[in-house]
Amino acid sequence: MWKQIRSDIEAVFQNDPAAKSVFEVVLTYSGLHAIWAHRIAHWFYRKGWYTVARVISQISRFFTGIEIHPGARIGKRLFIDHGMGVVIGETCEIGDDVVLYQGVTLGGTGKESGKRHPTIGNNVVISSGAKVLGSFTIGDHSKIGANAVVLSEVPPYSTVVGLKARVVKQNGVSLNKLDHDKLPDPLIDIMTKMQDEIASLREQVNELKQENARLAREQHEREKIVAYERIGEGSNL
Ligand SMILES: CC(C)(COP(=O)(O)OP(=O)(O)OC[C@H]1O[C@@H](n2cnc3c(N)ncnc32)[C@H](O)[C@@H]1OP(=O)(O)O)[C@@H](O)C(=O)NCCC(=O)NCCS
Repeated sequence: MWKQIRSDIEAVFQNDPAAKSVFEVVLTYSGLHAIWAHRIAHWFYRKGWYTVARVISQISRFFTGIEIHPGARIGKRLFIDHGMGVVIGETCEIGDDVVLYQGVTLGGTGKESGKRHPTIGNNVVISSGAKVLGSFTIGDHSKIGANAVVLSEVPPYSTVVGLKARVVKQNGVSLNKLDHDKLPDPLIDIMTKMQDEIASLREQVNELKQENARLAREQHEREKIVAYERIGEGSNL
């Protein structure tokens, strides 16, 4: 147990340059308090003492602002930075050396039963405000951008951003955002359709302008002819 506590504290120093002393970390890091409370709650949960487990989890939430369901399975050296607003669902599994920032939700979509929360691989970073919703896997060494909404599996060594999140980088290589064959993206599809629509409307407006100018010319010619005819009739009188 002491070994685990020591590695939890080491994880804080590895991930947070602001951490100054062990005393400060143990006393003030809410993420650490939430993980320790979760270990106790999870022990009760595995023994079938569900209510006791939930009570511990809720007390921990009251003090830390971090809600970890007692059923969640958490690996070694999880670091929750700042923590406020983090929610981790019951069937969530988190690997080793994962970093979570404030406002992260590892939740369900409400459409699944049984395993309904994500499985997070090792060495994954989930940035502030990101929502990972559903029972899929986030591959090892992947990064989820701030405020991303992830609704499907993320391959290892990927960076995903946006709403709904798409892969923008894999194995260190940036992906061409406009390469539609490789990167289906509903937003880009809509924008491309809108561009096509605008081009077609511009063409129609130009055609109408030309037609209008032609009609105006014809009208002018007709008026000139009528005027000449009137002058001719006047001279005959
Ligand atoms: C995702 C993140 C971890 C960077 O990962 P990375 O693999 O180094 O990715 P890059 O910085 O090379 O970014 C790749 C592309 O995604 C874009 N991007 C990065 N983060 C983004 C985000 N949150 N939302 C939208 N686009 C984002 C970049 O602008 C870049 O686009 P480009 O290729 O057009 O230039 C980082 O941007 C991030 O979100 N960090 C937040 C960390 C955090 O929560 N801190 C809180 C501390 S309190």
